[in-house]
Amino acid sequence: MGTTILAIESSCDETAASVCKDGEILSNIIASQSVHEQYGGVVPELASRAHMQNIVPVVDQALLQAGSKLSDLSAIAFTQAPGLIGSLLVGTQFAKSLSLSLQIPLIAVHHMQAHVLANLIPEQRPTFPFLCLTVSGGHTQIVLAKSALELEVIGETIDDAAGEAFDKTAKLLGLPYPGGPLIDRYAKLGDPLKFKFAEPQIPELNFSFSGLKTSVLYFLQKQEPGFIEANRDDLCASVQHTIVQILLKKLAKAVQQTNVKQVCIAGGVSANSGLRNGLIKMGQKRGWKTFIPDFSYCTDNAAMIAITAYHKFQQGDFVSLSVNPSARAEW
Ligand code: KG4
Ligand code: ZN
Repeated sequence: MGTTILAIESSCDETAASVCKDGEILSNIIASQSVHEQYGGVVPELASRAHMQNIVPVVDQALLQAGSKLSDLSAIAFTQAPGLIGSLLVGTQFAKSLSLSLQIPLIAVHHMQAHVLANLIPEQRPTFPFLCLTVSGGHTQIVLAKSALELEVIGETIDDAAGEAFDKTAKLLGLPYPGGPLIDRYAKLGDPLKFKFAEPQIPELNFSFSGLKTSVLYFLQKQEPGFIEANRDDLCASVQHTIVQILLKKLAKAVQQTNVKQVCIAGGVSANSGLRNGLIKMGQKRGWKTFIPDFSYCTDNAAMIAITAYHKFQQGDFVSLSVNPSARAEW
């Protein structure tokens, strides 16, 4: 009969559902919320309402695409933390209700752990232990994965996340939110060494990105009108190059300290082509084995929740119906 898990992700502005059978992803459905575009960022109240509207059709589609019925399910998984509390409440309550009505176990998943374990979805996957650089809109971490359920944060940002660094500098360049993918697109046309921005000196394996935004701001303030329009591609390429260098240098330090040479990336920013190419090149040069998930498993999705839940299911790691979501990032 096997283990079939339905997973739900609703931590921010994507309503997502996925069905996983014995560790294989059978469906991965995502409804993105365009309602936030006009506000230049995610509006929590609107995100919760959109989740309410999307969750039933998204779950229906995930089951349909997987060829599964509710009666096939062995467990229901959901993102418990971190995220926008109103958004998390929708997914949590939906998962609880299904668990109660179907009388099957409930599995709570940490969104950041799931980003790391997205690397276990492809056939070409790392073995334990491995390192993972998780870079998203809310987080920047280096994680040492000793086993599927033993994940240790060994470095993290002390201020902005890498995704915020992309989005905030993109805003300074007049690009709409979220600017990360646009910087990536224009960077392909520009010279990454044209402009130099300050790289922070932060101890250990930690990161800082707030200085980069200020450095770009001060640089732009000194320029003539029309400068951004005339230099958009080179500016994007230079900003992206600076962020990628900050990330890769710390990753190299983490490999040196742990002597773990299987290296993965995860999270929305791992969709960035500069980071993907930079990691591959660095891996070839230094003898690392590198792993990069498919684009669809990099940004927020429910397949990563499902694969994490599959490993939790095997350990009998279930939660009761009294579980609550949490906005906080602690593991
Ligand atoms: O993991 P994610 O989808 O959501 C969070 O949990 O935060 O990450 C979203 C972040 C945004 O900051 C977005 O600008 C960034 O990932 N992002 C990118 C790219 N695609 C998404 N940043 C740079 N280059 C990209 N191609
Ligand atoms: Zn995420």
